[in-house]
Amino acid sequence: MKNLLVTGGAGFIGSNFVRYMLDRYDDINIVVYDKLTYAGNLDNLEPVAPNPRYKFVKGDIAHRESVANALSANEIDTVVNFAADTHVDRSILDPGVFIQTDVVGVYTLLDESKNHGVDRFLQVSTDEVYGSIDEGFFREGDPLEPNSPYAAAKAGGELMVRAYHVTYGMNTVVTRGSNTFGPYQYPEKLLPLFITNAIDDEPLPLYGDGMQVRDWLYVLDHCSGIDLVLRRGEPGGVYNLGGENERHNIDVIKAMLSILGKPETLLRPVEDRLGHDRRYALANDRLYALGWEHSHSFEKALEITVDWYVKNEWWWRKIKSGEFRAYYEQQYGHRLKE
Ligand code: NAD
Ligand code: TYD
Repeated sequence: MKNLLVTGGAGFIGSNFVRYMLDRYDDINIVVYDKLTYAGNLDNLEPVAPNPRYKFVKGDIAHRESVANALSANEIDTVVNFAADTHVDRSILDPGVFIQTDVVGVYTLLDESKNHGVDRFLQVSTDEVYGSIDEGFFREGDPLEPNSPYAAAKAGGELMVRAYHVTYGMNTVVTRGSNTFGPYQYPEKLLPLFITNAIDDEPLPLYGDGMQVRDWLYVLDHCSGIDLVLRRGEPGGVYNLGGENERHNIDVIKAMLSILGKPETLLRPVEDRLGHDRRYALANDRLYALGWEHSHSFEKALEITVDWYVKNEWWWRKIKSGEFRAYYEQQYGHRLKE
């Protein structure tokens, strides 16, 4: 592993991963390949911009020629694919773009990686491909029953990765991460949306009864899990990557408000998300067998995250005043009026 292509590296987890890898290893070069959609942001990569082992290339994973150029011009031996449309609510409003990137894009990237003889291909997937589970924990061999257009598209991309391993013998691995949080997360997802709304004393639109359960994973733990699977995962292997930290949404939000010193009266129960999954939970045994462990408790990681948004208004105020406004109105306007 010498020259990595990190696709989607200008997004939340991808940019944290790039920083993590450059800090940790001094013998790898990283090329970030990213389309810079609304969620891609070069501000996220500002801390690594001066590093001579880092380079940025703007491009779409669904564009064959650009992918081929990025792979050959940089002698890429390893691909880590974060690139995706990622927000469930947006996938409910407009599923088409999710199929284009999360299925067609993954296929195109895989196919060109095969043509260029890439040694290792890691697909960053999600626990949402399993669907919802009322009790117990999902294991890697369980059936995939995705419920949102986002989750279905991610499952489609992931299954294409499987097919390239089985059919062509490509050296692939897949991680299925759980709900991730931390610095540089686009403020459409639960925690960054609610933290930044609370800072401004704006209402926090809680879907349904707030008793949905998510398994929260700190972004640096997600990055260390991906790094481990990249290095030690068995070819064709799929690895759950969960925080083993189940919380009801309402409890996560109350903990966040308490750190910020803001009142719970900001909470506003609103019309639920369509097809809302009730609970996600993963068994991590396969990942533990590779030697993975968490670096941060949930409480500590939440404090670090809240503190980061408090101190980095320059980062999120720009975002919230742009394209985001139209999205917010479409997604929440009628909900907050009811
Ligand atoms: P994000 O939305 O913050 O970033 C996605 C990045 O992909 C952006 O930089 C965007 O510009 C880029 N991108 C989108 N379409 C592209 C295309 N066609 N070509 C090239 N680049 C494109 O997402 P994130 O939260 O950092 O998630 C990264 C990956 O991790 C995704 O694959 C997601 O499914 C997966 N994942 C996320 C979570 C989570 O809780 N955030 C949990 C598990 C798995
Ligand atoms: P989200 O961050 O969108 O992640 P995911 O849907 O991938 O789990 O949402 C996390 C949980 O928070 C989910 O149960 C939906 C809920 N939620 C709200 O209650 N209100 C909101 O405005 C958002 C964005 C999410």
